[in-house]
Amino acid sequence: MRKAFIAIGLLASVVAGGQFAASSAAPGKSAMAAMLAQFENGSSGDDWPGTGRTYSEQHFSPLAQINDRTVGRLGLAWSMDLGMGNAASQPVSVGGVIYMATGMSLVRAVDARTGRLLWSYDPEVGAVAGKEMRQQWGTRGVGWWNGKVYVGTIDGRLIAIDAKTGKPVWSVQTTEKGSGQFITGAPRFFKGKVVIGQGGSDSTLNRGYVTAYDAETGKQAWRFYIVPGDPAKGFENKAMEAAAKTWTDQWWRWGGGGSPWNAITYDAELNQVLIGTGNGYPWNRHLRSPGGGDNLYLCSILALDADTGEYKWHYQINPGDSWDFNAAMGNMLTDLKIDGQLRKVVITAPKNGFLYVIDRTNGKLISAEKYARVTWATHIDTETGRPVEVPEARFDNGKDFEIWPSPRGAHSWNPVAYSPRTGLVYIPKIEHGVIFNDRGITMDNWRPFGANLSFPKDPIDNTSALVAWDPVRQKKVWEVPFNGGWTGGVLATAGNLVFQGHIDGRFAAYAADSGKELWRFAAQAGILAAPISYRLDGKQYVSVMVGVGGSAATESTSHAGIVMDGRTQKNRLLTFVLGGKAKLPAAPAPFVVRPVDDPDYKPDPALAAKGEAIFGGNCLSCHGLEAIAAGWAPDLRGSLLPQSAEAFASVVRDGGLVATGMPKFDELSESDRDAIRQYLRSRAADLRAGRH
Ligand code: HEC
Repeated sequence: MRKAFIAIGLLASVVAGGQFAASSAAPGKSAMAAMLAQFENGSSGDDWPGTGRTYSEQHFSPLAQINDRTVGRLGLAWSMDLGMGNAASQPVSVGGVIYMATGMSLVRAVDARTGRLLWSYDPEVGAVAGKEMRQQWGTRGVGWWNGKVYVGTIDGRLIAIDAKTGKPVWSVQTTEKGSGQFITGAPRFFKGKVVIGQGGSDSTLNRGYVTAYDAETGKQAWRFYIVPGDPAKGFENKAMEAAAKTWTDQWWRWGGGGSPWNAITYDAELNQVLIGTGNGYPWNRHLRSPGGGDNLYLCSILALDADTGEYKWHYQINPGDSWDFNAAMGNMLTDLKIDGQLRKVVITAPKNGFLYVIDRTNGKLISAEKYARVTWATHIDTETGRPVEVPEARFDNGKDFEIWPSPRGAHSWNPVAYSPRTGLVYIPKIEHGVIFNDRGITMDNWRPFGANLSFPKDPIDNTSALVAWDPVRQKKVWEVPFNGGWTGGVLATAGNLVFQGHIDGRFAAYAADSGKELWRFAAQAGILAAPISYRLDGKQYVSVMVGVGGSAATESTSHAGIVMDGRTQKNRLLTFVLGGKAKLPAAPAPFVVRPVDDPDYKPDPALAAKGEAIFGGNCLSCHGLEAIAAGWAPDLRGSLLPQSAEAFASVVRDGGLVATGMPKFDELSESDRDAIRQYLRSRAADLRAGRH
C-alpha cells in the first residue's frame, strides 16, 4: 500500500514540475521544479515549503535523523527574539531560509543555519487597518511559491514578496475594505495560483468567499462564494442556487457568514481544492435562518475544481450550525485501506468533537467518531452522513444547555498531524464546555454570537491532551493529558516522533507509536504554533515558534497554574539540531499581575456592570475573560490608565498604541469609556482583595 502511495506522489510531482516549466521561461527552472516537487508526498523532506509541508498537509516530515533513539541528543542550535505580538504561526523553510509572519503580519526571512535575519517586510497594518484590527486572532503563517513569499494581512491584503530581497512584488485587496473581514490564514498554492480566504463571520456582516489569483501577477483567476447572496440579484452559479433552497427568511441581510479562514487544501491527484468552511453569521440559526434549513455551504468540506473554481461536491459537517462548529480546522489528504479497499480520503478533526474520514472522490462520509467529550449529538449516521443531535442541542426551549465542545472547539486551528508510518492522526485536543441559551434574543436586539454564553461551574474539566487516533478503526491509541484548555500544533516525523509545544512553555517529543515522552525543552513561554522540520548540509533541523496568540488570548489559563504574559515572556523562533549546544538567556521570574494602588476608587456596581458588558463585546478577545489577560495583550488590572479619563481616551479613543496592536475604538462614547474604566478598577480592587 505504501509503495503505491509513494508512486502516486512521484507521478504527481512530475506533473507539477511540468506545469511549472510550461508556465515560466525563467532560468534555473529545473532547480525550481525540484523545489516545487517538495510539495509532493514522497519528496525528500529537505524543504518545508507550505502549510503542513506538502499539498496533503499532513504536517509529517519523512526525515528520520532525529528519531526515537537519537532525540536525547537534540539541543538548541539557535534562537531568535521576535518581539511582542502574536507569535503562533507556522514558518516555512525553503533552500536554507526560514520565512515567517508574526504580530501584525510582519514577515521575516532568516538564515536557517545561523538564525541571522536576512530581511524583514512590514506591511504596516496599524497604519491602514480600521476595525479589522480588532479581530486579533493573529496570522497563522506565510506561503512560498516560485521564489516569492506570500502573506495575507489583517486588513485583507494578499502580498507577494520577493524571497531574495524582501521587496513587495504585488499586492491585492482581497476583502472589502472597512467590512471587518480580515485574513489570518496562510496562503496556499497550486499550478501557478495562490488561493486565500478570509475571516469575519463571528462578528461582522459578512459573506465568505475564497479567491484564487495568478501567483506571478496577482490577477484574479476565480472566486467562489460560500453562501448564497440576495436572490433578487441573481445567483453566481448553480451551486448558489441550490444552496439558497436551504436558507429561509432574509439571510443575505447579514451576509450569512461561512468565511473560509483557515483550511484550504489542494488535492493534486483529483485536481480539486478542498475548502473547510466557516460558521454562520450570526452563530444562532434561529436568527440567521428562522425557518431552519441546512444553510449550505456553512461548516462543510467543499471541493472546487482547481482550474475553474467550480463546485464539485460538498460534505456538510454541521447542517444548520448554531454553535460555531466551523469546519475550517485543517484537512489532511491520504489513501487508507478500509474494508480491504484503498480509499482516497480527507481526514478532518473539526471543532464539533468528531473525527471524520471522508471519501475525497465524491464527498461521501466513510466514518466519524468522537475523539472528545460531546454533548450535542449522539453519533453521526453513516447512512445519511448527518449528525444525530440530542433534542436540547439547539437551546431553543427556553432552557440552558451545556454544550461540549465549546465554540473554542475540541480541536481548534492548531495543526493536527498524520503519520503515514504509524497510520495515526495526532490531535491537539481541548476539553471545554459552554452553556448556551437564547432567552430574550430577537432579531432586534441580538449582538454578535446571537446567544447567551456562560461557563460551566467546573473549570477543572478545562484540560487538553495530545491524542493519537487510528482513523481506520476510529479508535484512540494513546493520549497524553495536559493542564489548561489549549495546546500547541503537532509535527509527526518518520523518526517515530511527534513534536508538540504546550502553553506551559514545554516543547516535547513523544514516541509516535506509544506516546512516551522522550525529550523536553523549557521554552520559557507558551507554545501554540506547529513545529516544522527540514534538512540542510545533511543535518535535520526542527524549528518552532514560541509565543501566545490567536483565540488563546480570550481566556486565561491561570486557574490551571499557567500564566502567560507577552510582555515578560519572550516570543522566539527556536531551532534544534542533534548536538545543539546553544542556551536561552535566563528565564524571567514567573509572571504575577500586580494590581495598581487606587486610593480614589469608589465602587459603583451598576456602572461596573455596564462596563463589563462593553468590555465583553469589544476588549475581551485580547484582554481576556473577566479582564484576566491570557498572554499577548496586557492585564488591565495592572494598568494605571483606567484611573485617568484622558490617558485612557488617548489609547482607547485616539489609538495611541495602534502601532503595537491596540486598536482604536473611536465610536465608544465618553460614558462608555467611563463604564469600562469603572469595571477595570473594580477588577483591580478584586485582585487587591485577593478575589480572582
Ligand atoms: C486586538 C486586540 C485588542 C483589543 C480588541 C483591545 N486591546 Fe487593548 N491592548 C492591546 C495590546 C496588544 C495592548 C498593548 C500595546 C502595547 O503594549 O504597546 C493593549 C493595551 C491597552 C491599554 C494600555 C495598557 C497599559 O497600561 O499600557 C489599555 C488601557 C487598553 N488596551 C484598553 C483596551 C480597551 C478598553 C479595549 C476595548 C474597548 C481594548 N483595549 C481592546 C490589544 C487589544
